[in-house]
Amino acid sequence: MPEYKGSWEENGFFLIPELLGKDELEEALEELGRIYPSGAEYAEGRTDGYPHAPERLPDRPRGKQTLFTQNPSQFAGQIDFPWTGQALNRLTAHPRITEVAATLLGTVDLRIYQAQLWAKYTGARDYEQPLHLDYSSHTFLVPKKKSRPQQIEMFLYLTDVTAERAPTRLVPRPLTREMPPVPYHVWRGTHPELYRAEVSFPGPVGSLLVYAPDIWHRAVDLTEPEGVRIWMNLSYKVAGTDWLGLQSFQRVAMTPDWQRFVAASTPRELELFGFPPPGHDAYDEDVLAGLSRRYPGLDTGPWRDALDV
Ligand SMILES: [Fe+2]
Repeated sequence: MPEYKGSWEENGFFLIPELLGKDELEEALEELGRIYPSGAEYAEGRTDGYPHAPERLPDRPRGKQTLFTQNPSQFAGQIDFPWTGQALNRLTAHPRITEVAATLLGTVDLRIYQAQLWAKYTGARDYEQPLHLDYSSHTFLVPKKKSRPQQIEMFLYLTDVTAERAPTRLVPRPLTREMPPVPYHVWRGTHPELYRAEVSFPGPVGSLLVYAPDIWHRAVDLTEPEGVRIWMNLSYKVAGTDWLGLQSFQRVAMTPDWQRFVAASTPRELELFGFPPPGHDAYDEDVLAGLSRRYPGLDTGPWRDALDV
């Protein structure tokens, strides 16, 4: 981590190549192969059995930028946590990813507030975005620029990301420090210097791109024939920041995928999703008995031990 701190403080972003090795991703990538078609399968129209593959839209002008609200179809291919794949689910709370978040946010008391898979295919949709800030849907406030942020955004690469597979474009912070937060998107015509200054981070599967909430960035189209890029959007925030958020995990807590995830997780991992820690007064004998029934297989030992104390 220390080697990335300089880029973080100076530019507001960095890539850790292969934070997770191919061998430890093997099971998750197998699961992913059952969720999304490969680039070749997609190009050949073999998408039966993949309900999350985005339908290919008719030909459209290349490189046209539109606002997200005018082009919601670009978000096809995105799936919210939890997924049908325990190895994928467990990546959200992977200790090496959590460690990055804790180091940059300055606390281990963290919450995951965004966990989504996203697959983009060459030619499927209009993926070109204007340079923008994400805060409009992540906070009621606007991002801090001059002191440590209380949230960070990360992309865990689940395919190799080459230059032709549309790595996210980012603008180094020194060029945007004086920009007001509104409007939260700017066009090439009015800010050509920012578009010229864009950088991107191709990297192998398992790499982690990290950026701060005040960093201007955008998505672009894939250009590789039969190309696909799949990644996991992971955003962490400091606990107790009710003004920050995106997804509610309570609303998916009835799904079997969530129940299996909980049953296989540690108290620390569950805390990242908002479970109170063992010893909290949210727990008593009845609640623990109920949790055992709700999440078959969950080892309630740590919570019981804390109750005894
Ligand atoms: Fe964005």
